[in-house]
Amino acid sequence: MLSDIEQLARAFNCAERVLIITGAGLSADSGLPTYRGVGGLYNGNTSEGLPIEAALSGPMLQRDPALCWKYLAELGRACLGAHANAGHRVIAELQRLKPQCWLLTQNIDGFHRAAGSPDERLIEIHGQLAPLYCQSCGQLEHDLAACLEAQLPPRCRQCAGVLRPPVVLFEEMLPEKALDSLYQQIGQGFDLVLTIGTSASFPYIVEPVLRARAAGSFTAEINPARTELSATVDVYLPGKALDVLPELLGHISGDRICKSTL
Ligand code: APR
Repeated sequence: MLSDIEQLARAFNCAERVLIITGAGLSADSGLPTYRGVGGLYNGNTSEGLPIEAALSGPMLQRDPALCWKYLAELGRACLGAHANAGHRVIAELQRLKPQCWLLTQNIDGFHRAAGSPDERLIEIHGQLAPLYCQSCGQLEHDLAACLEAQLPPRCRQCAGVLRPPVVLFEEMLPEKALDSLYQQIGQGFDLVLTIGTSASFPYIVEPVLRARAAGSFTAEINPARTELSATVDVYLPGKALDVLPELLGHISGDRICKSTL
């Protein structure tokens, strides 16, 4: 009888098309705060007495750019001060092993690209932190660190318009290109869908898991805390991504089933 992690390793080896979905929990092992759960950014209000979702919203960026940028800068400094971890590198290796292993991330830290995940199979559904762009003239600003050290909100060197990152703020639409890519891939079906470090708070994160399950494909979750998906997936691995992913890669490398049929 295979253990849960051995079942996941075998499902990976026997799969042709794989979707890995990641959330803030994967970068928690790099020292970045998560949004929900213990120590999450969204627990409680800002010092202005606002829910963080209001401070980090599209309307707030227009109404009070200095306030919105106060919290954008916190996220930016945290990301610039941290690095991809072994969990990101294992995911990049899984994508090297499987040409049709796709990665859907909610993270804006850029750590998947830094760890070697290929751009063409990386869907950043909440955008990225850089390069900043001017909301008035579109001018790009690549030096996020310099902007965060200067007076906030950062302004365009051409027209003095307020700059912003290409992230999805609350009350904003998801990027069309990323959504199109995601639904094009979901439409082709996946043999395995694995979520890592996400509270599964959004329908576009839950849907690929439920569709895979309905199609009889293998589903799995890696998270130290249970989520609404934990009782639904075939295998729920309670643990930190940084601990589970290297162990999973070891089982994948060591399992001979299915490989002989490739
Ligand atoms: N390894 C794996 N998972 C972890 C770890 C860890 N070391 N530490 C915490 N977690 C789990 C938590 O149990 C939680 O379920 O990571 C999850 C993080 O959940 P959220 O903070 O809600 O992050 P995420 O699911 O990515 O949120 C989605 O919400 O507000 C938006 O833009 C924000 O991208 C974010 C999105």
